[in-house]
Amino acid sequence: MKYLVTGAAGFIGFYVSRKLCELGHDVTGLDNLNDYYDPRLKHARLEQLEPYDNFRFVKMDLADREGIADLFKTNQFQRVIHLGAQAGVRYSLENPMAYIDSNLVGMGTILEGCRHNGVEHLVYASSSSVYGMNSKMPYSTQDAVDHPVSLYAATKKSNELMAHSYSHLYNIPTTGLRFFTVNGPWGRPDMAAWKFTKAIMEGTPINVFNNGELQRDFTDIEDILEGIIRIQDVIPAGVQDFRNDDPSRSSAPYRVYNIGNNQPVKLMDFIKAIESACGKEAIKNYLPMQAGDVYATYAEVDDLIKEVNFKPVTSIEETMKRFSEWYKLWCY
Ligand SMILES: NC(=O)c1ccc[n+]([C@@H]2O[C@H](COP(=O)([O-])OP(=O)(O)OC[C@H]3O[C@@H](n4cnc5c(N)ncnc54)[C@H](O)[C@@H]3O)[C@@H](O)[C@H]2O)c1
Repeated sequence: MKYLVTGAAGFIGFYVSRKLCELGHDVTGLDNLNDYYDPRLKHARLEQLEPYDNFRFVKMDLADREGIADLFKTNQFQRVIHLGAQAGVRYSLENPMAYIDSNLVGMGTILEGCRHNGVEHLVYASSSSVYGMNSKMPYSTQDAVDHPVSLYAATKKSNELMAHSYSHLYNIPTTGLRFFTVNGPWGRPDMAAWKFTKAIMEGTPINVFNNGELQRDFTDIEDILEGIIRIQDVIPAGVQDFRNDDPSRSSAPYRVYNIGNNQPVKLMDFIKAIESACGKEAIKNYLPMQAGDVYATYAEVDDLIKEVNFKPVTSIEETMKRFSEWYKLWCY
């Protein structure tokens, strides 16, 4: 099958591209290779994809309306996995326009490409951050998510709304995936797993926000990958007699799922897992809560189990062990 994977040089996009190539599909990977974090890591991921004859890389910006339209027209992709975006909660306070361009305009160009070229399924990345001020735990896709606490979260919620309008108007099957903090080898340098591992290995202090009183539902990259690969085969159909009481589905071919571990980890236990993986204790610098952050994330995954027959299983200890081994190999 012919796939477009956006954000192919990114953490999750790289895994998805590699897996689709291994499965024998024809994969076009798109990325603008921006320098939000060290582009050498993006190039190193792309080098891992070079051996696959069925992979082709296109350097392009998602906001390039004509370029994206041409790419769709020329290639007639059957499926699109849209993972390219300006990621990161905190950076959205510093550089909001990057989120408007990549996440809003970028989603628009992808939806237009799908609309005009008969794409059979668009799977796109949303985020656990859409739950914002929600206090009901675990976070359910059946809950309303109307109180984002960062622009990043607002763009991700907007992506779901944009997808719904295209599913409704043009009958394009779309599935949004709310990922819960993803960790693993080839991960992102702006995320805590990387920053803490680096600092512990180098003997420098780590910043522990809200004095350690935070919880995250950390998800292993291999579980995220398995979820994406399964879900892209589950093409949503509209619900008959839909009564508008469940935000995760619709009369249109539209679906939203959580992919999280369903097992929140306390920040201090997360740090212990990294200390144990590195064989060294962290120097901790306790700080107050950061703007834009949420206290806890916890994914309800009942729909994932029921409809996709899948649930993430990997423990944070196992993830951080694999991550630290990879980090020693690649970053030292
Ligand atoms: N990693 C997580 O914990 C996590 C959690 C929730 C949601 N997500 C979402 O999952 C997706 C993938 O995240 P990731 O962790 O792989 O991030 P990433 O930053 O490693 O990958 C995103 C890729 O998109 C590319 N990109 C950004 N703007 C672009 C543009 N305008 N044009 C073309 N390419 C562009 C970047 O260069 C990057 O390689 C993103 O949509 C992110 O918001 C990630």
